[in-house]
Amino acid sequence: MKKIKVWDIPTRIFHWALLIGIAFMWYSSGDFDLMEYHMIVGRLILCMLVYRIIWGFVGSTTARFSNFIRSPFSGIRYLFGKDTSRTEGHNPAGGWMILALMLVLLMQATTGLFADDNIYYSGPFFFSVDADLADWLNGMHHRNIDYLWILIGIHILASIVYQIKGKNLIGSMITGNKQTDKVTVAPEMRSPWVALAIFSVTCALGFYFTW
Ligand code: HEM
Ligand code: HEM
Repeated sequence: MKKIKVWDIPTRIFHWALLIGIAFMWYSSGDFDLMEYHMIVGRLILCMLVYRIIWGFVGSTTARFSNFIRSPFSGIRYLFGKDTSRTEGHNPAGGWMILALMLVLLMQATTGLFADDNIYYSGPFFFSVDADLADWLNGMHHRNIDYLWILIGIHILASIVYQIKGKNLIGSMITGNKQTDKVTVAPEMRSPWVALAIFSVTCALGFYFTW
């Protein structure tokens, strides 16, 4: 067995920051006094997602979509124990799960820009689009959250099941390391400074255009 680095620092910070951020979004969504912060942290999550998409093309090997989005059939074969391809990062089934999670999150954060509470607070673009469209997008912000909770529930359950079966995926998401006897070439890790630069630009532009 040898220890290899599978998750870079930016991906790990992204993950655990996302968890804290979503917990705050849930807590703040029901509190009128926290709605101002709901909209600020919501924008931040949106910027994090845009950054993560860019990192999915230029980041470390295991963070790249090309590494974890394979054919849907290999995902299904993996679930039945028939796909034995290398799995340093997300496995073929998990990769699709992560993509779904990111898309539903992106939908939630984007539609928030058009949300409205019918009383006082509205997202920055609620009045910028046609009323029917704004209404639909607002409805999506309220409905899509249920799909998000379902996906997050499955995601956490799957992580715990793997943990019970002896695969320390949660530990790897914390330390970045994985014990393996299979891999021959360790994944290439890109500098966290490149990630920080991309995230800073994404955030600056994101807040500038949505304020
Ligand atoms: C709001 C809650 C959560 C969200 C939105 C979320 C989202 C995500 C996302 C987007 C990734 C992919 C990371 C990347 O490639 O950048 C991921 C990976 C992962 N998450 Fe979560 N997560 C949440 C909570 C949790 C919790 C509570 C746990 C632990 C019990 C967990 C365990 C993991 C693990 C182990 C991976 C890596 C999976 C693998 O090895 O393929 N997540 N999560
Ligand atoms: C991933 C990010 C986000 C999550 C998880 C989230 C979650 C929620 C939830 C659960 C609700 C309450 C829905 C309901 O009562 O049925 C809500 C409402 C709302 N959100 Fe978000 N949101 C996010 C992003 C945003 C963003 C980026 C904005 C605007 C900049 C925003 C603005 C609003 C507004 C104005 C409401 C209406 C409040 C109400 O109906 O009482 N949200 N959000």
